Amino acid sequence: MTKIKNNYFEDLLKINKAILAPMAGVTTLPYRLFMREMGCKIFISEMVSAKGLYYKSKNTFPLMETNELEHKDSVTGIQIFGSEPEIMGEITERYINDTAFDFIDINMGCPMKKIVNNGDGSALLKDLDKANKVVREVKSASSKPVSVKVRLGFNENIIEDIIKAIEDGGADMITVHGRTREQVFTGEVDYDGIKKAKETASVPLIANGDLDNYLKAKEKMDYTGADGVMIGRGANYDPFIFSQFNECISGKKVSEYSLRDKIDAARKHFEIHLKYSKDKKKVIEFRKYLYWYIKGIKNSAKIRNSINNVNEIDQVYEIFNRIDDILEL
Ligand SMILES: Cc1cc2nc3c(=O)[nH]c(=O)nc-3n(C[C@H](O)[C@H](O)[C@H](O)COP(=O)(O)O)c2cc1C
Repeated sequence: MTKIKNNYFEDLLKINKAILAPMAGVTTLPYRLFMREMGCKIFISEMVSAKGLYYKSKNTFPLMETNELEHKDSVTGIQIFGSEPEIMGEITERYINDTAFDFIDINMGCPMKKIVNNGDGSALLKDLDKANKVVREVKSASSKPVSVKVRLGFNENIIEDIIKAIEDGGADMITVHGRTREQVFTGEVDYDGIKKAKETASVPLIANGDLDNYLKAKEKMDYTGADGVMIGRGANYDPFIFSQFNECISGKKVSEYSLRDKIDAARKHFEIHLKYSKDKKKVIEFRKYLYWYIKGIKNSAKIRNSINNVNEIDQVYEIFNRIDDILEL
């Protein structure tokens, strides 16, 4: 098959091969800005509902928040979900083309019932004709490159058909989470499925799923032949994963980090969070990150319990101080 020239993502992936996965409620603007400082250079926003934009839902617009920093030496795409091709095209033209986002990512992987029952997210993998039209409409309305994030299939692995359908619609890059919708987040990731996707695709292909340390990410990128990797939950627990991955693929000595370094990074995250979060409950919003950061800290059960009651800025610093005490023992 002749390779389609795909300069935007090809050029991007020549320099940076690791993308922070879109995670609703997690990959907010402050989190992306933090991860940018930690060495990640390619981001995708939380998923944004096309219908929410179309019907001007006031809860939807804040999810589109971005700022100039995340487009400086780094790029950020906006992820949209929806299954009505015309609406997807219309909101692209009306609300997305004029934003600072560098590219658009279409969500065809979300397994959540409330999304799938509306025919959105991974439900599109059951109707490849529709999936094709969704990509086609977004692509023709968009002034930006368009990527698509999929799973291997809905109930079964049909990745080759999926790749063909969305490439035919005009996708410029494809990310494959190596599970079916039925698997949700359990069961082994099928890296052979991702390998098959890479062999089928003409556009850059990104491997995703359980790449929770830099070595595994590098190994699976090599094994599947993928052009890059997308890392989600691994980054929540290990904020150094991107810088280590980048060192590893450029043949440099990979830096090692201690729990102490992780807690210092968590403090930095909290400062960035306080500076950029517009959430009225920004401290409560930070609780989930704290739970992830204390993983690996000995005897942290009591700290874990007190995170549930964290409401004020000072309480977060108290948690950090208690962790310091444990680390100094
Ligand atoms: C809390 C959470 C929220 C997620 N939200 C999204 C989302 O908004 N859009 C999307 O395409 N995938 C979403 N995902 C899936 C991730 O992008 C990724 O495909 C999945 O977690 C597998 O990668 P990982 O093993 O590196 O985490 C979410 C995953 C988690 C855990």
